[in-house]
Amino acid sequence: MHDINALLEKKREQARQGGGEKRIAAQHGKGKLTARERLELLLDEGTFEEWDMFVEHRCHDFGMADNKVPGDGVVTGYGMINGRLVFVFSQDFTVFGGALSEAHAEKICKVMDQAMKVGAPVIGLNDSGGARIQEGVASLGGYADVFQRNVMASGVVPQISMIMGPCAGGAVYSPAMTDFIFMVKDSSYMFVTGPEVVKTVTHEEVTAEELGGAGTHTSRSGVADLAFENDVDALMMLRRLYNYLPLNNREKPPVRPSNDPADRIDYSLDTLVPDNPNKPYDIKELIIKTADDGEFFELQPEYAKNIVIGFCRMEGQTVGIVANQPLVLAGCLDIKSSIKAARFVRFCDAFNIPVVTFVDVPGFMPGTSQEYGGIIKHGAKLLYAYAECTVPKITVITRKAYGGAYDVMASKHLRGDVNFAWPNAEIAVMGAKGAVEIIFREDKNDPVKLAAREAEYKARFANPFVAGARGFIDDVIQPHETRKRICRSLVMLRDKKIENPWRKHGNIPL
Ligand code: COA
Repeated sequence: MHDINALLEKKREQARQGGGEKRIAAQHGKGKLTARERLELLLDEGTFEEWDMFVEHRCHDFGMADNKVPGDGVVTGYGMINGRLVFVFSQDFTVFGGALSEAHAEKICKVMDQAMKVGAPVIGLNDSGGARIQEGVASLGGYADVFQRNVMASGVVPQISMIMGPCAGGAVYSPAMTDFIFMVKDSSYMFVTGPEVVKTVTHEEVTAEELGGAGTHTSRSGVADLAFENDVDALMMLRRLYNYLPLNNREKPPVRPSNDPADRIDYSLDTLVPDNPNKPYDIKELIIKTADDGEFFELQPEYAKNIVIGFCRMEGQTVGIVANQPLVLAGCLDIKSSIKAARFVRFCDAFNIPVVTFVDVPGFMPGTSQEYGGIIKHGAKLLYAYAECTVPKITVITRKAYGGAYDVMASKHLRGDVNFAWPNAEIAVMGAKGAVEIIFREDKNDPVKLAAREAEYKARFANPFVAGARGFIDDVIQPHETRKRICRSLVMLRDKKIENPWRKHGNIPL
């Protein structure tokens, strides 16, 4: 008995040591924490239950038979974040560079399977040199086993990836299928092929950071949702995000009571929108002033800035915010913003999170680059996402809602539950100037007549009452009462139930 306990302790200690002191020091030298240190920060103290500490790889080639480390380069198990269950895996770069072997993949699959059985999210902390080269196709099979589980878990339990080191080749496709990807600045990168291969194939010279660093993926490619300064910052923010999410698709998100009154009035909102319709303003001011305690967890703030997405709470319940941003490209919809918002709306819909949409949109972005890039198909993604969505949908038009973009942005016609407009809202096919230039073409050389036509058009259409008269707008509300009206609507919608017709799956334009 004594011997077995000694052996147990020895094995545990060996596993805890990972790749050994030297490699741990190298990891720290790069400003990175070890796999276990990361889990300690992510999870509530003392809650981590580790599994498979004794798993070893089964490879005999290239001298691997005598080169085994218990745990095989990934720490897996479950624990709590603010008292709520979560399954985790954390790749250990100090063990074979965190490379994924068949056994390493089996460990990840085991926690994913269990997470699905009990209905709890999976968080992966990625720090890996990719497929374990010595194992060849066995490790590739391991990746595919993880991918298949990512797909099966999509929309059932939230999946979150935190990239904290290398993530290259096939390794990128597991995070790519998770709901959120976060990265740590300067120490993480993601790419399908690294700088050396790029140079050989396309003759481009590019650094790893430029090709797939946190800056690139949060601002250029849109692959990642947020970039954090360092490991500690990243893990603390991940805990914050976790608090907004339900554990699975059968649950409602957690409610966090707030002392911020649901009927709080904010008169400063009455002057948020400038009198001049061509002058921009910051829609984030409205979001922050409407949310509980002014807290807004923005996602993808550096990508497609013409639309703002993220989570906040209203009356304590998690709400997904989608808002056109007049400060950037006048808030118009383009390819990137449509995709960004569509994916977010689908996440909210999958996980019972009501969607609040703030609309100030002059239309879709014109131009050859948009048309050649497929704005028709990509804009349709957002339309599809809103139309398919069955969670409570509340829309507030703050100023412009023009053309097809009016329809797309959670309009009444797409089963918007409560659609409000501010008094200055302009709901029309297009702006007055553009409209009269088309329908009164014969007056194009007569500026006086044109001005009169424009004024006439404005008076007739540039207001919320034409839409109100048809019931497309439920009420015209004062800006200062926006929070109160949204909160009341959310309470009314708490038990909303509608179902889409049965089908295997829809065919969203991809
Ligand atoms: N398979 C097996 N072992 C790997 C590995 C892999 N895919 N990637 C890294 N390692 C091992 C290294 O052999 C090294 O082992 P050691 O500590 O015993 O010397 C250790 O992990 C650390 O790697 P190292 O290259 O020293 O770290 P680095 O920070 O300088 O570079 C990488 C990191 C990821 C850029 C580099 O290791 C690399 O290019 N790896 C291969 C990536 C790849 O092509 N993967 C397969 C495609 S998916």
